[in-house]
Amino acid sequence: MSTHVTPAPIGVFDSGYGGLTILSEIRRLLPDYDYIYVGDNARAPYGTRSFEIVYRFTLEAVQYLFDRGCRLVILACNTASAKALRTIQQCDLPHIDSSRRVLGVIRPTVEAIGSMTRSGNIGLLATPGTVLSGSYTAEIAKLFPEYHLYGQPCPMWVPLIENNETHNAGCDFFITKYIDALLAQNDSIDTVILGCTHYPLIFDKIRACLPKHIALLSQGHVVAASLQDYLRRHPEIESVCSRHGRCTYLTTESPAKFMETATLFLHDDIVAEQIELG
Ligand code: DGL
Repeated sequence: MSTHVTPAPIGVFDSGYGGLTILSEIRRLLPDYDYIYVGDNARAPYGTRSFEIVYRFTLEAVQYLFDRGCRLVILACNTASAKALRTIQQCDLPHIDSSRRVLGVIRPTVEAIGSMTRSGNIGLLATPGTVLSGSYTAEIAKLFPEYHLYGQPCPMWVPLIENNETHNAGCDFFITKYIDALLAQNDSIDTVILGCTHYPLIFDKIRACLPKHIALLSQGHVVAASLQDYLRRHPEIESVCSRHGRCTYLTTESPAKFMETATLFLHDDIVAEQIELG
C-alpha cells in the first residue's frame, strides 16, 4: 500500500542571515520550487558555540521544518553542517523519518575544489567553529586524500558584516589580518574556500587582498548546482517538493530587525514572520 505524501517546500536553515546568500543562488537556479527559510537569529552566531549546542539548535530547526511538511532540508550554514549534519543524518533521521533528507554545504564545496587546485594546498576561511570542527579536513581526506587543508578562523568577519561595517578601514584591517595569517601557513596555497555563508558579502574585498594566482571559491552557486543534481538523481524526493515559486522567511528574532538586515544579503525587500524553536 503506498502512502500519499503532500508536496511541501524545501527547507533552508541557517543560524541567521548568511544562508540567504545560499538561498538566493538556489532560487536563481531552481526558481520553480517553494522554499521555507529559517534563520535562528535570536540564538546566532553559532560560529563560536559548542558542538552540543549547535547540534541541539540545528536539530530543533530541522524538526520544525519537518513539522511544516518539508521532506528535504538544506543546512545552509557551514557551522551547522560541520557540527550537526552527520549526527542528524546518522542518528536522528532513522528515528524521525528515514524517508526525509537533510543535506549540508561542506560536501558540495569540497567536491568543487577538485577541479580548481593544482598544488593540492587548499586554504579555508571560516568561523572558529567550522575550522576547529575539522569537518572540511575530514571531507577532503575522504575525497582527495593527497590534498592538504589549512584553516584560518575569522571571528570578526560575521559581526562586521551583520553590523554593516564592511566599508571602512577597520574591516580592511581584519580582512588583511586573516588572509595574511592563512597564507603564512603555506606559501603554495592556490585555492581558498570561503567556508562561511556570510563571506560572499565581502567577496570583492577578500579577492582584492589575495594574490591573483589564488582561486577563490564562494559556495552559493556550488550548493545550488549540487541541489539541482541531487533532485535530478532523487525523483522520490523531487516529486514531493512543491512548485509554486514561493518563499517564506521565518526568524526567531524580531521580524522587523530580520527584514532590515536581510536586505544587505538579498538586495531585495522581504516579509518575515517570527517563530519559536525548541
Ligand atoms: N552561517 C554561519 C556559517 O556559515 C556563520 C554565522 C554564525 O556564526 O552563526 O558558518
